[in-house]
Amino acid sequence: MRKARLDFRLRKQHFSPMIVAIDGTLASGKGTIARQVARKYGLAHMDTGRLYRATGVAALRSGTPLDDVSALTKLAETLDLDAFEEASLRTAEAGQAASKVAAIAEVRAALVTLQRTFAHRDGGAVLDGRDIGTVICPQADVKLWIDADIAERARRRSKELAAAGKPISQANMLAELQERDTRDRTRKTAPMKMAQDAVLIDTTDLGIDAAVERAFAAIDAAMARRNRSL
Ligand code: C5P
Repeated sequence: MRKARLDFRLRKQHFSPMIVAIDGTLASGKGTIARQVARKYGLAHMDTGRLYRATGVAALRSGTPLDDVSALTKLAETLDLDAFEEASLRTAEAGQAASKVAAIAEVRAALVTLQRTFAHRDGGAVLDGRDIGTVICPQADVKLWIDADIAERARRRSKELAAAGKPISQANMLAELQERDTRDRTRKTAPMKMAQDAVLIDTTDLGIDAAVERAFAAIDAAMARRNRSL
């Protein structure tokens, strides 16, 4: 009997792939943390913001109005991520368009299956976004919420854009972040918010290495809890 229970525990530990949900605000460091988590734990990584950015860019390119729900939904349903150069997805315009199309329930619904299928792949996955812990993977093994003071996020993001040859003043960046945060937080469908059972990592005064270490510690603790409860 004891042996059967032990076999079951070992099988479950072995076969139940780990899902890590990392949500948070723009320029909080969540993308970097997600990439490092993927590397350390050998997980596949999906940056879900790319789906919304690609849908937004596809709309801008095809001249689709950002409030044409049926045309935007079709773009999301037929999205070919390989058709977008990374740099074209990283512009401020792409971010704004992403945030607008992401507020449309039908667009979000068109992208759910893709994300859930990715999350449940063999070998486990880490997904970063705004609604992973609340909507896409509410059963994730570990949920992290990454945030930082908005002025610090504006400083980081304008530095990044300047390095990419697209300088923007910190004041304009701050206004843009405020607009996007508000839209993401107040939309009716899947608003950006911290899941109740998420671990908060505030990166305002943390270097990225220290933030990544906190993420690793939270994941190790959650995995130890999960294995104890099996
Ligand atoms: O994270 P990133 O800046 O690439 O996301 C771009 C936009 O896509 C966000 O401002 C948000 O509106 C939307 N998004 C979302 N849900 C996600 C990921 C991104 O609504 N899971």
